[in-house]
Amino acid sequence: MFDFLKRNKKPEIEVLPVTTDMHSHILPGIDDGAPDVATAIDLVKGIYALGIRKTVATPHIIGDLYRNTPITINTALNELKEACADEKIDIEITAAAEYMLDDHFLQLLRSDSPLLSIHKNSILTEQSFATPTDNLHHIAFEIIAAGYRPIMAHPERYHFYHQNFDAFSHLRDMGFLLQVNLLSLTGYYGKPVTKAAKYLLANGLADLVGTDMHHERHLQMLQNAKSLMLFKDLLGDKKFNELDDL
Ligand SMILES: [Fe+2]
Repeated sequence: MFDFLKRNKKPEIEVLPVTTDMHSHILPGIDDGAPDVATAIDLVKGIYALGIRKTVATPHIIGDLYRNTPITINTALNELKEACADEKIDIEITAAAEYMLDDHFLQLLRSDSPLLSIHKNSILTEQSFATPTDNLHHIAFEIIAAGYRPIMAHPERYHFYHQNFDAFSHLRDMGFLLQVNLLSLTGYYGKPVTKAAKYLLANGLADLVGTDMHHERHLQMLQNAKSLMLFKDLLGDKKFNELDDL
């Protein structure tokens, strides 16, 4: 009798529209993401159930807050990989970093040690949410001259771009790839951020998408059926996060 209701019901989507996540804070105990291995494992199980099979963990490196190094990052990565093996979670986890474009970053860039890249020479960068970065053009030039390809994390979250969406094209002109947070599309960070994220997708300016998952609340929002439907609708047929294409 109610067959017509079943027929008209949209099929429920149970996975994210990508199988690779290139931005997350799942490494235990080294930034404002997962505080310990047990929490990290819960987050990994959560994204695995959402279809993620490769994840690049990107802990913050911020000069006056999280002075992570390849040693702190790889130690946490190995702890998490061991725990995943114990739990028999068949997910590929690598690690890079999310570099705040501060003086500490410039010192690292100008030093002899290589930066931690997402894939090949691509590095994930972020700006302060409070104020635009001074001399961003120059910094982008220096990053590229050093042989790296910069990715700007969540450009839609910077309020100083909300009155001027042309800034997004300017970032690309400087050489940045743009990475949109999936959660930005859900309203999680507020309406102006959602509007900016939708603009980036609708105008083909988004090169990558990421979960930027820090904790359980982020995971729950990603798992939400409405969110999953929204991601599918807004990302359309374009393939995101094929890292070999970077
Ligand atoms: Fe992040």
